[in-house]
Amino acid sequence: MSPLSDSRGAVAKPSVVLGIESSCDEMAAAVVADGVAVLSSVIHRQFEIHAPYGGVVPELASRDHARFVSQVVEGALREAQLTPERLSGVAVTAGPGLMGSLLVGLCFAKSFAYRFALPLVGVHHLAGHLASAELADPDLVPPYIGLVVSGGHTALYRIEQDAPPTRLGETRDDAVGEAFDKVAKLLGLPFPGGPALAQLAERGDPRAVSFPRPMAQSGDLDFSYSGLKTAVALEVEARSPLSEQTRADLALAFEIAAVGSLVNKARRALAGEALGSLAVVGGVAANRRLRAELEAAAAEDGFRPVFPNPELCTDNAAMIAAAGAQRLARGERDDAWLGAFARAPLEAPPWLPR
Ligand code: KG4
Ligand code: ZN
Repeated sequence: MSPLSDSRGAVAKPSVVLGIESSCDEMAAAVVADGVAVLSSVIHRQFEIHAPYGGVVPELASRDHARFVSQVVEGALREAQLTPERLSGVAVTAGPGLMGSLLVGLCFAKSFAYRFALPLVGVHHLAGHLASAELADPDLVPPYIGLVVSGGHTALYRIEQDAPPTRLGETRDDAVGEAFDKVAKLLGLPFPGGPALAQLAERGDPRAVSFPRPMAQSGDLDFSYSGLKTAVALEVEARSPLSEQTRADLALAFEIAAVGSLVNKARRALAGEALGSLAVVGGVAANRRLRAELEAAAAEDGFRPVFPNPELCTDNAAMIAAAGAQRLARGERDDAWLGAFARAPLEAPPWLPR
């Protein structure tokens, strides 16, 4: 038996789980008690490192993770006023993500768990994002619809209590956050572009330009953002040099089309599955227009939208600790052979028993 697959059984109450997340360009650690109370959440970002390149450079990301992982974990324990001995388990993102980045968090988590004889579980990055909605609203219990909108993913899932999630639809090309970032770049905004684009859009005139909502007539629950991005690129080219107002108008027209498509498909999924709760998670869930439009749709259709607190929308480790706490509470354990996976479907993470 591996040293990490110990025989302690289910975690004794109260559970205090250390979460570690390093799948992309954030090195994060957090402590969560009883699966719902965030005792600490520390995030070390790398914006300045990647900004000159206009996107995340994987090699630079993992090097910086290696430099900061101990400090970030120490910070999370200090903020929670805990010593490692008080922990009941360690949860770490095992995938999907950048291989080099994932490996740093994973190796640290495995060594840490071994050193302090703690049970270890791997967490799917998107299961973490979904747990961030459950952290915001403990009344959110499956079955519900999960709309995952991040820099790497755009998908709708049916989330079940005791069964794997079912993927109802996903993007056929770019993720919505990726489209926000690419359009922001076209409009000359600094990396990471999503929040900057949303801010610019606030000064736009909604009557000035409009783009069709992608996939509005597709009849399914899939998304597509590369056509919209190309439409913006052509418009930028046709109108250059862009005045400040035109930049804002284009930003707003893009945001309206991108968000409109998400709202459309989320409503359709809720109706199709006859479910009344929608968890909206991932970096783009911080978008104010998306939140407002879903609140308005909810008032019309009678469903309940749940958004994580804005600071838990983008990558963080509290969500990983919360999702890991659920696995630990079921008595699940991974061992020292837990691997990192650049790709991993949420429906069947390769490290989970079949
Ligand atoms: O979940 P996340 O931190 O990382 C991934 O797992 O991908 O999401 C990051 C994405 C980026 O594309 C970023 O531009 C986008 O979320 N984002 C936003 C906003 N805040 C972050 N997009 C639109 N509006 C925002 N307010
Ligand atoms: Zn993420």
